[in-house]
Amino acid sequence: MPQSSDLYFAQQPVGEMANLAYMIGSLSERKAYLVDPAWNVQGLLDQAAKDEIEIIGALVTHYHQDHVGGEIFGHQIEGLAALLERHPVPIHANKLEVDGLIKVTGVSNSDIRGHDGGDLLQIGGIGVRLIHTPGHTPGSQCFLVEEADQSGHLVAGDTLFLNGCGRVDLPGSDPRAMYESLETLKTLPDDTTLYPGHLYSPEGQDSMGDQKRTNPYLRAASVDVFLSFMGA
Ligand SMILES: [Fe+2]
Repeated sequence: MPQSSDLYFAQQPVGEMANLAYMIGSLSERKAYLVDPAWNVQGLLDQAAKDEIEIIGALVTHYHQDHVGGEIFGHQIEGLAALLERHPVPIHANKLEVDGLIKVTGVSNSDIRGHDGGDLLQIGGIGVRLIHTPGHTPGSQCFLVEEADQSGHLVAGDTLFLNGCGRVDLPGSDPRAMYESLETLKTLPDDTTLYPGHLYSPEGQDSMGDQKRTNPYLRAASVDVFLSFMGA
């Protein structure tokens, strides 16, 4: 018989670029991390308060402004800086993303915990495994939510979308690294649920099993086929 879950998990659409922010935490501890808090920081904090959940940190998938705040095309997006003003917490990023994060958001080095791939954050009965998935940016990371006897949740940022993957034609992008990162994600069990960083599809989630069958970027037979898909 499956055990009851300690997982607190929320997906929230934010902003004008179809971004998805997340909260990952523990019901028994009543604590959670905010993933990619941008566009509507107060809305995310209000949701946590309504759910009687204390936010204890921010998790960053990658340093692009639509995920962490900053100026883009002359438009100011609120994000980590606004979060730290209202509710100071540590920011967890891959160590390769720290310099870009400081440049884009203006937060200081002392606010950021730079992680290696494979690090684990534990919150109650919930583990959040940091999977380094370079390609879209050098320090892109996905979060695998692990809990005993439960199916995993993969919060994938701009690495993997439903039937798509992140752009690899941006500064710091690396198409070959993206191919390897997707190969890594393909090793996750089929019952893992994918939660993307943007709502580019009618549904906001899918199983990895379905994605392995239908997502052309996961189905590329070789790195050369993948690179030709990506125009690289
Ligand atoms: Fe991005």
